Amino acid sequence: MVCLGNICRSPLAEGILKAKLPQGNFFVDSAGTSGFHSGELPDPRSIDVARKHGINITDQRSRQFTVSDFDEFDIIFAMDSSNYQNIINLARNEKDILKVKLILNELENSTKDVPDPYYGGDQGFEQVFQLLDTACEKIHNKLIT
Ligand code: 4NP
Repeated sequence: MVCLGNICRSPLAEGILKAKLPQGNFFVDSAGTSGFHSGELPDPRSIDVARKHGINITDQRSRQFTVSDFDEFDIIFAMDSSNYQNIINLARNEKDILKVKLILNELENSTKDVPDPYYGGDQGFEQVFQLLDTACEKIHNKLIT
């Protein structure tokens, strides 16, 4: 799960998908295309909205996406088209490119970008949670069937 800062959207996506998948069978992680917040906890508003829905994301620390992630992971979900392009720019070959998907492409009739809630209020975080929860439910269904 990849966004820009790895403190708002992708930590939520990581926590939500982890909570849906059976423990031990999958490795879910998140990163930011920037290193602006490397080492930091998720944004307190993401921590709060996750906790409100029964998910603890306080074990997460922000890290920057690296080229080696193309080797570590089978699927790389970008939160918006800007993150998508930044990841694609790091791809070494067609195999890398094919791993990268826009997470909201999992939903029909949806906006394709998870809105960046960083500069907004708490309501934005609830909206992001709901979008990611719906997308992660679809991803979960694909992965376990
Ligand atoms: P995220 O949100 O990409 O969902 O983690 C942001 C966090 C920090 C910044 C931008 C977006 N920033 O500019 O510091």
